[in-house]
Amino acid sequence: MIALESLILEYTERTPKSAELYGKACRALPGGVSANIKFFEPYPIFMDRGEGAWLTDVDGNRYVDYLLSYGPLALGHGHPAVKEAIREQFNRHGSLLYGTPHALETEYAEKIKQHFPSIELLRYTNSGTEATLLSLRMAYACTGKYKIGKFEGHYHGGYNQVLISVNPPLAQAGEAGRPSPVPESAGLEPHQFDNTVVLPFDDLEACSDILREHKDDMAAVIMEPLLAGYIVPTAEFMRGLRKVTEELGILLVFDEVKTGFRAGLGGAQGYFGIRPDLTALGKVIGAGMPMGIVGGKKELLLKSAPIRGSDVFDMSAGKRSAAKDVLFHSGTYNGDPLILRAGLASMEILEKEFEPMTTRTESLKQGLKAIFAAKGIPVNLPGLGTVFNIAITDKQTIGSYRDMQGADLTLRKKIDFALFREGIYNKPTNRYSLSTAHDETVIDFTLEAYKKALARF
Ligand SMILES: Cc1ncc(COP(=O)(O)O)c(C=O)c1O
Repeated sequence: MIALESLILEYTERTPKSAELYGKACRALPGGVSANIKFFEPYPIFMDRGEGAWLTDVDGNRYVDYLLSYGPLALGHGHPAVKEAIREQFNRHGSLLYGTPHALETEYAEKIKQHFPSIELLRYTNSGTEATLLSLRMAYACTGKYKIGKFEGHYHGGYNQVLISVNPPLAQAGEAGRPSPVPESAGLEPHQFDNTVVLPFDDLEACSDILREHKDDMAAVIMEPLLAGYIVPTAEFMRGLRKVTEELGILLVFDEVKTGFRAGLGGAQGYFGIRPDLTALGKVIGAGMPMGIVGGKKELLLKSAPIRGSDVFDMSAGKRSAAKDVLFHSGTYNGDPLILRAGLASMEILEKEFEPMTTRTESLKQGLKAIFAAKGIPVNLPGLGTVFNIAITDKQTIGSYRDMQGADLTLRKKIDFALFREGIYNKPTNRYSLSTAHDETVIDFTLEAYKKALARF
């Protein structure tokens, strides 16, 4: 079997300009990257251009893009409707930003509410991170409790409460049914470990026991309803969790930043038929631009309504006294007209093209399964809608982070490096996301590329 070292040598021979740019980047950016997730060894590929399903790197290598910037680009790169929406906002409306309310804020909100019936009211943020952060503050404000439950292996953005047990080494992660909290960053405040309780995914009994112990202090359980955007829990687990959180007075927050408009047009909550109390959205809704949403039950969202003279920035006499009664939520770029216009244009296309896109995702999965089977490599391809991952394992069911860790990640990484030469791009071992631009020709190209790559193993 071909060694990883040979594949990395081949990679460096094909990407000399990326190596050069990476060397320069390291002199300006820590680790040469603007987000830690963008790094992989020996150095990441520097991209130069995107078009439809394709990326071209600075050395002129072309790849089908299955990273899609970690999911937002549901229409692929540079869709004409998105380009036109951006042009129109500038040309017809004259500005990028008003700093006042504008009609698109309501128009887009109504579109989101149509797809997510659990969302009665919503607020815009500038990222998924901000959306989950606001959802937690909303939960604290509405319950008067300050602990949260979060699941092992779930990611909710880069801040203290949730940077715990996202990708923990199994040796430190404790028992499966009662996971130990593992920090995911330097600089976390030690008291955070008292306020974030780590829960086991897809294990209702163990999870319910932990929730009962903390019910008096726990404001919310936050979760990715599909772990990492592609691991589908049982419907019994999801229904049971909704029931037990309701019974214990703990709010249920679905972080659908990955699954919104990907697991289905109505997200994972539409698939399971479950109404969470709050939902965080991001990625696809901004059509490739920074945006997030927190939505949910009216009585919870109204906590952020600036009534009762509570604007924190209003310095007139007497006004500030009520600020503590209202949930603070503000942001220079919230409800950015350019992003809303592009997001809305992209949503209208997605509504028409989502079903065929899921069908093509399924046919890609079936094709891959057959190619791996012919090679005698056991695989499981967990996923839903337009996202899946490739786990090299003979396990029939993948229900948790630990199941995924049990897969052969070393072989997967080698295959991903071999695929670069064949014109397939993903960050090694990452999940696959598709776009409307991943048409049948692209799927056929991908399957041929896989055949060539696997022939070397
Ligand atoms: C489930 C989930 N929540 C929150 C976030 C954070 O979103 P953003 O990167 O837009 O801040 C992400 C990002 O990958 C995510 O996948």
